[in-house]
Order: sequence, then C-alpha cells, then structure tokens
Amino acid sequence: MGLTIAVAGKGGTGKTTVAALIIGHLKNNTDGPILAVDADPTANLGEAIGLTPVTSIGTTLAEFRENLADLPPSIPKHEYLQTKLAEILIEGKKVDLLVMGRQEGQGCYCYPNQILRQYLDMLAKNYPYVIIDNEAGMEHLSRRITQDIDALLLVSDPTVRGVKTAGALRDLVKELHLTVKSIYLLVERLRADLNPVVREEIEQQELELIQTIPEDDAIIDYSLRSQSLTELREDSPAVRSINSLMRRLIVKEAINCGIMNKHERI
Ligand SMILES: Nc1ncnc2c1ncn2[C@@H]1O[C@H](COP(=O)(O)OP(=O)(O)O)[C@@H](O)[C@H]1O
Ligand SMILES: [Mg+2]
Repeated sequence: MGLTIAVAGKGGTGKTTVAALIIGHLKNNTDGPILAVDADPTANLGEAIGLTPVTSIGTTLAEFRENLADLPPSIPKHEYLQTKLAEILIEGKKVDLLVMGRQEGQGCYCYPNQILRQYLDMLAKNYPYVIIDNEAGMEHLSRRITQDIDALLLVSDPTVRGVKTAGALRDLVKELHLTVKSIYLLVERLRADLNPVVREEIEQQELELIQTIPEDDAIIDYSLRSQSLTELREDSPAVRSINSLMRRLIVKEAINCGIMNKHERI
C-alpha cells in the first residue's frame, strides 16, 4: 500500500518543518524509498532534509517551451521532455527529491503539464511513500499536477485565526473536488496547552485534530545552522510528536482502506 501525504497551510506555520520531520520518521522507521516533492516555489524542503536541488520542473518546462522550435524533428517532443524531467530528480540515501519550482513565463502549459502529470504518476509508482510540501494556495494541487492524496495535513499555528484559515483551505479542497482521501488538522509550535477558544474553533470548523507539535528549540537550532531536520534526535519533543502522528495516520489509513477493523489495535 503506497502512502501519499501532502502538507499544506498558511506561510510560516511549519509546513516544511513537518514535511521534513515526516520524511525523517520514514527514513528511520521504514525501508523506503521516499519521494519528497517540494511543491512550494520558495523551495526549501531540500535544505530541511539535507539535499541540494539543481533545477526545478518550472525551469525545465520553461526551457522546453523556449527550445521547442529548435528541436530536431527526429526527436519526439514527449521523449525529449521526459528525459529532461528525469534529470531533475535528486537521488539521496533512501530519499529522493523533486522540486516543482514556479511556472515561468506566460502562455499555455497544457501540453507540458500533461507530460508532467504522466511522469509524476509513473514516478510515484516506484515509491511506497510520497511526501508533498505544498505552497499556501495549493496551486499544484488545484491544477491537479500532483497525484491523488491519501492524507492532507493542514498545518496551523495555535490561534483561532490559523484554524479558520485551515478551515478555508479544507473548503477549497472540497470545492475543487480534489482527490484527497482524508484531511486532518495539525497544530504547530505549541508553547502550552491548546487554548480552549482554539479548541472550540476546531470544533466549529469541523476539523479533525490529529496531532499537536510543540515548539522545539532543537528545530530552531538546526534551522539556524541549516542542518538537516531528518537528523534530529529521536528524543526531541517535535520528533516524538511526529512519531505519534505517523502511528495514528497509518492506523487511520489502514482503517480507511479496510485493511484493519476499527476495534483492532496494533
Ligand atoms: N515545532 C517547531 N519548533 C520551533 N520552531 C519551529 C517549529 N516548527 C517550525 N518552526 C520554525 O518556524 C519557521 C517557519 O517554519 P517552516 O516550516 O519554514 O514554515 P512554512 O513551510 O509553513 O513556511 C522556521 O524558522 C522553522 O524553523
Ligand atoms: Mg515552506
């Protein structure tokens, strides 16, 4: 069973951190391999997991469109583009990274996007785990470029406003009829217990809070030194919360797929 997890939410709430910690968890607790997709144009997931991207899909598609007229007729366009797309993948130990970048230039991207979709579908089949770090507006999700999602984690700060934004993103996913199996709320950077007014708002928004992640000095320290978050110690508070998140998520997904009965325990 493959598992595709997407992380989304307002800028600065901790999406990249959560995505990197999930990747670290999978690296330490599974055989992998894991495909990390950086779908945020500010592209910093690589840094958070210790991989350095060379180029992005956005840049490659723009170059393809520019050079289209100069391509020798003997090379089929789609083959040329597929070769170029394959060069973007950064291969690490157990974890590979793909950077979406931003859509460069004006005009229609329908044709390259179609090839891109086929390429991503093909690529994702090779990985039991795909983790997507999305931008705030979930542009790639809404253009249906990234594949179907098993679990969408909406990351919020521990405020009423943050939870409202997460609710609005959930509504957007529903409006766009995106293929997302489950949507969960994750509250990041908690310094104390969750305030009752925030809890009330979560209920109002009918969001399912799957996990809270505490404010963790080790994350601040690692980010400051640009050290990979996948190397954080297992006893660091945020890593422990991510471990608990992943246990819950895997059980929930197993129940959703009918692999496990609701009353079974692991
Ligand atoms: N649990 C945490 N404890 C301490 N700092 C955190 C935590 N989560 C995120 N941060 C910090 O918050 C800032 C924003 O996080 P980031 O993951 O880059 O957010 P986003 O990807 O949503 O823009 C970063 O400086 C990051 O190091
Ligand atoms: Mg980010």
